[in-house]
Amino acid sequence: DPSDLLRGAMLQISESDLVRKAVVTAPVSRAVVARYVAGESVPDAVSVAGELRTTNRLATIDYLGEDTTDAVQAATTRDTYVHLLDLLAEADLTAYGAAEVSVKLSAIGQALPADGDAIALENARAICEAAQAAGTTVTLDMEDHTTTDRTLATLHALREDFPWVGAVLQSYLHRTEADCRDLATAGSRVRLCKGAYKEPASVAFQDGDDVDLSYVRCLKVLMAGDGYPMVASHDPRLIDIAAALAGHHGRAPDSYEFQMLLGIRMNEQKRIADRGHQMRVYVPFGEDWYGYLVRRMAERPANVQFFLRSLATN
Ligand code: FDA
Repeated sequence: DPSDLLRGAMLQISESDLVRKAVVTAPVSRAVVARYVAGESVPDAVSVAGELRTTNRLATIDYLGEDTTDAVQAATTRDTYVHLLDLLAEADLTAYGAAEVSVKLSAIGQALPADGDAIALENARAICEAAQAAGTTVTLDMEDHTTTDRTLATLHALREDFPWVGAVLQSYLHRTEADCRDLATAGSRVRLCKGAYKEPASVAFQDGDDVDLSYVRCLKVLMAGDGYPMVASHDPRLIDIAAALAGHHGRAPDSYEFQMLLGIRMNEQKRIADRGHQMRVYVPFGEDWYGYLVRRMAERPANVQFFLRSLATN
């Protein structure tokens, strides 16, 4: 499928420092960033979560940043999450988990050359304590496949003290159906998505249809299980299948949720919430938006134009 190829090519090109510089400094970037990113500051993120609340949507907030190789930066990111959780609680947005946070372990230490896993775990614990105090939850994002085992190990360690910590699983990985089986247990929060990184054929389905079929198999496992499935997709077919499976298993509306990204299918988000489903929006904020945005651009062939235009105007 040519669009699968284009997606791969974009993810590859984006790794060049030259391209990064061109895109980050391009004037066209600002408007695109504004669509997908809540703003640069903690209050910006809190205010978007508040706006979403007025249309019955829940939020999960992500402080942008990844792959940090600097322990001070990792600690700053941890502190930003703690501050964010304090402000969310103050704004009365954390009751019943209305606003929670999403965390990339590589932003809080996992990618450090020494003791990365231990440092990430320690920082994640501090974030979980703040979330617990605020009355809400934390979900671990899933990054490229070289980190999956370590992220799941950290999840298990965190859940000993904070059983409500959730994690993302990606249907493009061959292993994910088995991971869903492991995690479809009482109290376990699993956010199922397709997956956004460039992965080799040895570990991941390359064809979009195969990724979708895997998503359905994973949904079946999660909806039949005792956990709390979080259906993270904008794909109308998968959303319909998820709703049908939830009905088939007699799930109450508060025993699973739908999730989408800020800026994508915003009207559909409202419609799904209006139909009585729980709908949570992933709200990224912060200055370090490049990696996040590249993955969003790569998802739509039409978005390639944005990339080319940024290069042309520099
Ligand atoms: P798909 O890409 O097939 O899109 C379905 C339809 O949605 C498209 O036809 C289009 O209409 C619309 N659409 C999708 N992307 C769009 C875009 N960028 N711009 C405009 N329209 C678009 N990934 C990961 O690897 N690790 C993670 O931790 C997470 N976390 C995460 C949380 C949440 C809440 C969501 C919704 C997604 C993620 N993802 C993720 C991203 C995920 O893996 C995937 O890349 C995107 O959700 C796009 O896949 P869809 O399931 O939406 O299908």
